[in-house]
Parts: sequence; C-alpha cells; structure tokens
Amino acid sequence: MVYFLTAVAAIAGFLFGYDEGVIAVALPLIEKDFPMTPFVSGFMTAAVPLGALFAACFAGRVTDRFGRRRVLMVAAAVFAAAALIAAAMTAIWILVVARFVLGFAIGLAAVVAPLYISESAPRAIRGALVATYQLAITFGILVSYLAGLAFGSGGSWRMMFALGAVPAGLFLVGLAFLPESPRWLVLRGFSDAAKASIRRLRGAGADVDRELGEIRSSLAASTGKKAGYAALLAPLVRPALIVAMGLYFLQQLSGINAVIYYAPEIFGKAGFDSGSTQRLATVGVGSVNFLATMLGMYLIDRLGRRPLLVLGFCGTAFAMLLIAVAVANPNLVPSWVVVAALLLYIASFAISLGPLPHVMMSEVFPLHMRGAGMSMASISNWGFNFLVVLTFPLLLAGPGLAFTFTIFAVVCLCGVAFTLLRVPETANHSLEAIESHLMSGRPLAKL
Ligand code: BGC
Repeated sequence: MVYFLTAVAAIAGFLFGYDEGVIAVALPLIEKDFPMTPFVSGFMTAAVPLGALFAACFAGRVTDRFGRRRVLMVAAAVFAAAALIAAAMTAIWILVVARFVLGFAIGLAAVVAPLYISESAPRAIRGALVATYQLAITFGILVSYLAGLAFGSGGSWRMMFALGAVPAGLFLVGLAFLPESPRWLVLRGFSDAAKASIRRLRGAGADVDRELGEIRSSLAASTGKKAGYAALLAPLVRPALIVAMGLYFLQQLSGINAVIYYAPEIFGKAGFDSGSTQRLATVGVGSVNFLATMLGMYLIDRLGRRPLLVLGFCGTAFAMLLIAVAVANPNLVPSWVVVAALLLYIASFAISLGPLPHVMMSEVFPLHMRGAGMSMASISNWGFNFLVVLTFPLLLAGPGLAFTFTIFAVVCLCGVAFTLLRVPETANHSLEAIESHLMSGRPLAKL
C-alpha cells in the first residue's frame, strides 16, 4: 500500500514539473496569438512560483488542521480546473490568473505530498520514497518538453495546458483510495483510525502497536510546546530550520531553474543556432535529469545524505565554472564542451541537490512543528525560485552568462561547506530518533 500511496502522492510532483516545463515550450506559441510585452511574459512565467509561494505561507497550518489527504484532494481539484481555464483562456490576464492558481495548488501539494509520503513510509526506504516526488517532478518536466516537441509544430499550446488536467484527475481519484497519514491521525487524537492506517500501510504481520507507541512517545515529548512559526526560531529547533531553508536556498541559487527554463537559450549561446536542435538538446537535458534522479534515489539511503550532497555540490560547481570559461572563450573551447558540462551539471544536480532538500525538510523538524517548518522551507524554495526565474534574463542581458554562471558556481562551493558544517546524516534514523537528537541540544550535524 505504501508504494501505491507514494505513486499517487508523487503525481503532485509531476504536476509541479509539468507546469515548470510547459511554459518554456508554450510561451513562444502563445506570443504569436497574443502579443505581449517582455514584462507581461516574464510575469506570466513567474506567476506559478508566485502562487506557490503564497500557498506555502499557510500550507503547513492548513494541513495540520485538515489532514494530509484532504488538502491534497483540494489541490488536485483546483489544479484540474485551473489547467482547463488556462487552456481555454481568451485574454492574457486570464492566463496569468490561471497560472497563479495553478501555482497555488502546486505550492500546497509541494508541502503536503512529501510530508504525507514521509509520514507513511517505513524508515529503511523513507529517503527513496520521498525522492520519488523529485523523480515525478523531473518526469513532469520531461513530458512537458516532449509535449512541446509533439504539439509545437502545430502551434497547439492550448492542448499543452489541457493535458495537465489528466494527471490532476488521476491524482484526485487515487487519493480517494488512500488512508490518512498515521502520524497526523495520532496528532489529532484519532488512535483507532491511526491503527487502521498503519495496518493498511504495512500489511499483515506489521507491529502496529510498536509503531503507534513510537509516534505517541514523540508526540508526548512535544506536548505543551509552542508550534507556531516563532517557535521555529527557538534555539533547539533553529538548526533544523537552517538546514531546511538553507538547502532550498542552495538548490535554487545553484542555478537549476536558469537551466530548466532557459536551456534552449543557453544552447543558442553555445553556438547551436537552429531552434529544432535547441529543442532536441532541451529534451536531452530533461532526459538526463530524469535518469540521474533515479540513480540518486538508489544512492540516497545507501550512500547517505551528506556524501551525496558533497558530490552534487562539487559536480555542479565544476560544471558551472567550465561553462563560464567556455562561453567566455568561444574560440578556445569547442561548443560540445558546453553541452557536456550542462549535462554533467544536470546529472550532479539530479542525484543530490534535486531530491535531498525535499527529503530532508520532511525529516529534520520535530513532529509538533513539522507543518510550520515545512512551510518555511517551501517559502525558501519558491521565493528563491521566483527570484532566479525573474532575474536570469536581466543578468544575461547585463553582466552576461559567464559572470552569472560563476556566481552559481560560487554558491555551489558554499554548499559543500554548509553540508559539512550543518547538515545531519539522517539516513537510517527514525523520525523519532532525529527529533530526540535535535531536542537534546547536541549539534544537529553530529547526528
Ligand atoms: C526544484 C525545482 C527544479 C527541479 C528540477 C526541484 O527539486 O525544486 O525548482 O526545477 O528540481 O528537476
């Protein structure tokens, strides 16, 4: 059952990725039907992260109150409706509003889906199951790039948007068959329902009472403590907040969405002039992103979070520097080096920086403030996503690609230091053990 739950919850990630990628391929076609200024097109592109940022501000509280499954169902329904409105739009302002609403649904789901998976997963495979969410994001990006190839020549951007409603509908139907998170049920005092949920998730022969006992004791340890946003700044909890928000800051400032949104343009700068070659190379980026994420999922519980992060930050830093040098010296470095470096960048990102922030934000916070903590982490994710997507074109036009990629490389190098100094190794620890270490006041990185 837990695999089915993971597969359904991960559709949230697919919707996230699909909407990130689809605008890259749809925008040039929409502009033919509805001419718009660069500001309007930029704002429309950024409307999804903006809507998601807005949702992230209160997703934690909403899900702590109404449950994981119910909030996801609302997000699925809203997403399907907004996708159809985007497809049928007759004026640009309608598309901006529809994309903001899509972003809102994605933002809700982006907090709740990894939390739902993490709370329902057995500890030995928790990392890999939560990372499925990231795999689904990359699959969504890849499918949107492929939809761009398939429908691009016919100019059918409406079809590209409408397609998003299909997985949203499947998401809604799938959720109807799932149990609620046992941890949330215990949190709200529904013990019998929690037992039934654990039994359904683990199957026959599961030690339901032991798992229930573990959840209860971690809850008991946190009763009477404040669970609001201010409580996240308390000295004992702050290290968890720094890890979760810091990892998203580093993920976004590593430049990933400059690549995801602007890959064709980067290939253009590397000397590939034809639009169709650029689109094909973009599908290559999407494919490597997807395949390397699978490798990351395999490694995440085996190699551990810290070694994987260090590897990822070193790989992305090296690749970004290589691209910067190549673009700054086009006569010395052949253009295939840029393609190779971009693929190395994507692969390094996908095995580590992609999945790990999602995995770790669902692990490091104590149960009673997990919702609020994950909201703050998501605010960091969407806020910096918005910032990079909005400013990258300006940076390209101003200081240029080499300068911008050098900044991204420096951020990735800072990521190595951050990992070594701050990030705990959570692989193979139960959520309860992580919580008791945090609350003991010992350095989190020494877990
Ligand atoms: C990030 C997204 C990014 C994607 C690329 C995710 O983990 O949060 O912003 O576009 O990875 O695969």
